[in-house]
This record gives sequence, C-alpha cells and structure tokens, in this order.
Amino acid sequence: MERAVEYLRGVMADWPATAVVLGSAQSAFVDEVRGARRIPYREIPGWPTPSVEGHAGELVVGEAGGARVAVLAGRVHLYEGRTPQEAVFGVRVLARLGLKNLILTNAAGGINPAYRRGLLVLITDHINLQGLNPLAGENDETLGPRFPDMSRAYAPELRELAAREARALGIELGEGVYAGLLGPSFETPAEIRYLRTIGADLAGMSTVAECIAAHHAGVRVLGISTVTNMAAGMQAELSHTEVLETGRAAAGDLARLLTALLPKLEL
Ligand code: HPA
Repeated sequence: MERAVEYLRGVMADWPATAVVLGSAQSAFVDEVRGARRIPYREIPGWPTPSVEGHAGELVVGEAGGARVAVLAGRVHLYEGRTPQEAVFGVRVLARLGLKNLILTNAAGGINPAYRRGLLVLITDHINLQGLNPLAGENDETLGPRFPDMSRAYAPELRELAAREARALGIELGEGVYAGLLGPSFETPAEIRYLRTIGADLAGMSTVAECIAAHHAGVRVLGISTVTNMAAGMQAELSHTEVLETGRAAAGDLARLLTALLPKLEL
C-alpha cells in the first residue's frame, strides 16, 4: 500500500477530500469530471484491477460541480475471488492521501416492494452477509481502532445533504438498508424473503467492505444504490444484462445528483 501512496503522491501532491466509487454501468458521472487526469489502475503499484464487464478500472481526478474529486471508475468484488483487503485497497490508499468523504455507488436488487427499477436509494445502513470483513487480521492502529462503532456508518449529515439536493433537482430518492452478499449468483426467492424478514431493502454484492474500511479510517461515507432490478421472486427473471441496462439508464440522474452534491461536501 505504501508504494501506491508514494506513486500517487508523485502524480499529484494534493489529493481531493472527496472520492466517488462508481458501480456497474454508472460511469456516466466520469463525463462530468472536468480537467480529468486519468490513471489506469494497472499503473498504480498493488492496485487490483477488476475483471467484470461494466467496470472500467481507472482513477479519474478532476473537478465536478466546481469541487475537486477522485473517481474510482470500477471496483473489484469478493465474487471475483478477491479478498476484502483487496476490495478496500483503493479506499485505504485514498484515506492515506487525506480523504474525508467517500461516496459509494452500486447496482442493487430491490427487495422493498415500494421500489421500482431505476430508482436511486440512499443507503441508511447495511447488513454484512459476505462472511468476510476487511478489518479481520491484525489491526493497523494508525488507520483506526480494533473495534469500530458502526452505529452511524453512513453519515447522517451526508444523507441529509443528499436528500436535500435530490429534492431540489426533482430526483426521487428512496431510503433503505443494503444487504451485502458474496455473489456472484443472484439470490434465490427464498433468500430474498429471508432478507426482507431481517430488514433489508436492497441486495447487492459490493459496498459493505468499502464502507467498513472507510469508516474505520475516519472517512465519512455516503451510499447510493441504483435499483437495477427487483429482487429474485419479485420479477420474472434476473440478468446481468438488465443490471447494466437499467444502471446506464439511471446513471444520468445519479451523475446530476453527484455533481450537485459534491460542492456541498467541502469541509
Ligand atoms: N442481487 C444482488 N446484487 C445485485 C442485484 C440483485 O438482484 N442486482 C444488481 N446487483
């Protein structure tokens, strides 16, 4: 990790306080970034490169809505056979470079029957069902505490800001609890009934590890899901193609929301 930090310091002395991780088919926001400096993940020592369609794999640094931002276009997932430490590598490197706010976006299946395809949902909390935690193993006390409190893992003040900006833009924004699963198979209808029972509104395969690592390191987290499909048993069938198509269709709204939100996050 130190090598990646040193490499990126060499590219740019002063790193933005805010980063956005873009999920499946959500790369439209990258086009909003002005004066973009693009750094392919493969050029950064130790930075894992994604292997899945819909995830580009580059770090884009520039300005959006007048605010400086680092965009992680593409992420690695545990279902790619990656470790949780690899999944949070980029978040930890940026935390070392002074990150204060992290916006995690993702594609998710809608479990809450009030949701619809294409809806953006503010993550209020998560349920980690991945069976893995990026903090397992020796704790690096310079990063954060052994037993971090997760009571407010998704910063209430950032949620408030995001809700306000969405209202001002006329973008409908739901709220819900994100269940993080290992994947890569989608859930069964029985698993979705179980998830609804335990209080989940969304099902997805990313985000929880990054949230845990960022929160551990004292970085404020905001999570926004795109409901790319209703979950198993709630619609006829599920496919990655639908996830990508719906994700792309909603990416414009997501990009507008992020662009409006970023300048409001400055500390
Ligand atoms: N389940 C899990 N992850 C997902 C889904 C889903 O239905 N849709 C997009 N990501």
